Amino acid sequence: MKINNLVRKNIQGLQPYTSARDIYSSSEGILLDANENSFGSTFNEIKGLNLNRYPDPHQKELRKHVGKYYSINESNLFFGVGSDEIIDLLIRIFCEPGRDNAIIPEPTYGMYKVACDINNVGVVNVLLNDNFQIDLNEIEKNYDENTKIIFLCSPNNPTGNLLNKNDIITLCEKYNSIIVVDEAYIDFAKEVTVINEVNKYPNLVVLRTFSKAWGLAGIRLGFCSASEEIINILFKVKAPYNINTLTRYALQSAINNSAKKDVYIKRIIRERERLKNQFDSLSEVEKVFDSDANFLLIRCKDAKKMQMTLAEKGIIVRDRSSQPKLENCLRISVGTEDENDLLWEVVKKFD
Ligand SMILES: Cc1ncc(COP(=O)(O)O)c(C=O)c1O
Repeated sequence: MKINNLVRKNIQGLQPYTSARDIYSSSEGILLDANENSFGSTFNEIKGLNLNRYPDPHQKELRKHVGKYYSINESNLFFGVGSDEIIDLLIRIFCEPGRDNAIIPEPTYGMYKVACDINNVGVVNVLLNDNFQIDLNEIEKNYDENTKIIFLCSPNNPTGNLLNKNDIITLCEKYNSIIVVDEAYIDFAKEVTVINEVNKYPNLVVLRTFSKAWGLAGIRLGFCSASEEIINILFKVKAPYNINTLTRYALQSAINNSAKKDVYIKRIIRERERLKNQFDSLSEVEKVFDSDANFLLIRCKDAKKMQMTLAEKGIIVRDRSSQPKLENCLRISVGTEDENDLLWEVVKKFD
């Protein structure tokens, strides 16, 4: 498969932005090339960070540390301002506005459609099947020559389930399009990821984020793993200094502290199962869907009423009822033990 043939013509021919530091491959010496403030920074709290200088456009430190942590080749890694930035970049690289489309099996994470809409790229909605798995026949029926991306989310938001790995591989093998698998919630799942398949399938892009298990939604950092060819195009198209120095610093510190992330995951999974059992016992709740994520999807008799009652007590949950197949469904993030106790105090009065 020739990935370059899938890339928009203007991107194929794009001359990326370069700086003098690319040419001299140095960020040391007397730096008078980027109109920075050589005197220093107005933010002095963290020694050695040189915030008066632009960050490394090649993401070298991030690639090194995250590559080592996840055993991923550095050349297969790209970092974005959250995975949301990478979703947008992929659309801009592969989909010609006003002509191309992306297939989005629903119900799923809303940003794929929003990013397509912003870029004037067609959205082909197909439905997941009744088990919220990929419906290969539906995709086959709706696929056309302008389908450049298929967006998949595993574990899926808001349904919480992992997608069948064989189906994902089938799509990679069958279609001459980019297959994006968003694994934002994979740390909470019991089964394996498809991230190791990127060397086998040049059209596969796996998204990850530091916003969930790592507890770093505030630093805005996500990454993808993909074939070197796709990674190089992402580097060409991104804003030159997309990942800022403070974010890189926070991430390095988080990786040194990764045992904390593992403890969070254990506690979240334990609490998820406790909440699941509690909700299961309520007659007001018709179904609690199995979850491989850090949230639960529940089908209520009356989702609006449940949401409003919770809101009156200051507990905010997400009503997903407007999505296909999710009538009367609420998505509830797993909170801390204390938060979940308070949640339970309110919902048990429903019965
Ligand atoms: C499936 C999925 N992907 C991506 C994101 C966004 O991640 P980030 O914070 O890295 O932009 C979310 C956020 O809720 C999500 O649910």
